[in-house]
Amino acid sequence: MKFFLDTANLEEIKTVASWGILDGVTTNPSLVSKENRPFKDLVAEICRIVPGPISAECVASEAAAIVPEAKELAAIAPNVVIKIPVGIEGLKATKALAAAGVKVNMTLVFSSGQALLAAKAGASFVSPFIGRLDDISQDGMALVEEIAAIYANYDFPTEIIVASIRHPRHVIEAALVGAHIATVPFAVMEKLVRHPLTDIGIARFLKDWGKVKS
Ligand code: E4P
Repeated sequence: MKFFLDTANLEEIKTVASWGILDGVTTNPSLVSKENRPFKDLVAEICRIVPGPISAECVASEAAAIVPEAKELAAIAPNVVIKIPVGIEGLKATKALAAAGVKVNMTLVFSSGQALLAAKAGASFVSPFIGRLDDISQDGMALVEEIAAIYANYDFPTEIIVASIRHPRHVIEAALVGAHIATVPFAVMEKLVRHPLTDIGIARFLKDWGKVKS
């Protein structure tokens, strides 16, 4: 499974990149708004730090405007992936961009029908938002399972990015259902690596090591 970081914060990205397990980054307008830096500069800097796919989101609403906006963003670096919200205009833009060799991550996906259409349009990635579904008492991970089954039935190459992750269990469940990618907030990534019994175990080993004769 690939790990993406769901953030636009450079320090968080550098930190997790230094752990040696980071495959890519997803940003969105809300995450970018926290960084107080011009959007394109920020995307360029993230692309320099992480060689894998970096999602940058379009804000235009008509396909005729999404396509040129996407092409401008894609020109920032070869590893930029264009994030486009699913919808009729988004599908039209995705079809045109895929034909032009631009990779698209269809975002804000809340149903398997949307994910099926995204794959048909040629999206390289699809992002079901599981936390936001859980927030309204729907089973977010059940949606991921459905999308995975549909894609397997037809050999769609579209990769599933499990998004809107809230806690480490979401990451484990994404791995159990065989999702290609989890995009994980920094705080959840930190929680994923820690266990209190590991900390207690290290402290005990070090204490005992102090008693070993040299
Ligand atoms: C994914 O690409 C999105 O940036 C993200 O996962 C949204 O998560 P949220 O529901 O925590 O805002």
